Amino acid sequence: MTTGLFITFEGIDGAGKSTQLDYAASYLRNQKKDIVQTREPGGTPFSEKLRDMILKAKQPLESDTEVLLMFAARNEHIARVIRPALYCGSIVICDRFTDATFAYQGGGSGVSSSRIETLETWVQGNLQPDLTFFFDLPILAAQRRLGKRKKDRFESETMNFHERVRQGYLTRATQYPGRIKIIDSSRNKSQIREMVQIELDRLCN
Ligand code: TMP
Repeated sequence: MTTGLFITFEGIDGAGKSTQLDYAASYLRNQKKDIVQTREPGGTPFSEKLRDMILKAKQPLESDTEVLLMFAARNEHIARVIRPALYCGSIVICDRFTDATFAYQGGGSGVSSSRIETLETWVQGNLQPDLTFFFDLPILAAQRRLGKRKKDRFESETMNFHERVRQGYLTRATQYPGRIKIIDSSRNKSQIREMVQIELDRLCN
């Protein structure tokens, strides 16, 4: 039995997801809610090491290896951080979760959904986010926003890869319309904040 709430933030690289996540966390903290802010891949010391290995790998990795590493990191994160926090009644706010595996390794790299679903069931059981924000932006605009800053392995991928990732997310949003809220990241920051706030109020109050 979980009593807390699990909220995830997803988006294509450059869509402004992390800024909005920080805003959402402080919005809820100001309401004296107990917030656990975390991220994937990562969230535990060991999973953060896996994050470094995955995002900074110099050599190409097999797509299946990527999926397995993502779920290994996720298993640690769920067992040591997410589930304990939910049991204590906290609101867990997580920067990316399994929708990212479906979008990047599934949509982007072509790993079949059924393989990902097998690991999802194994690692998560019945754990699913209560609410997911997907920050969406056309790829060209997202790439412009990323600009010349140093990019990780996924950010450095081709436009076609990112287009497939975006389509992967949009497919997930069609499959789970009640959970996944698409946020149009081309709107201005205050409009986006307002949309996020409305959903948070609906779920958390
Ligand atoms: P971010 O923390 O800046 O969003 O970077 C994490 C990167 O890892 C991002 O490019 C997406 C990628 N990623 C996957 O490819 N699969 C996953 O399951 C997760 C959680 C992230």
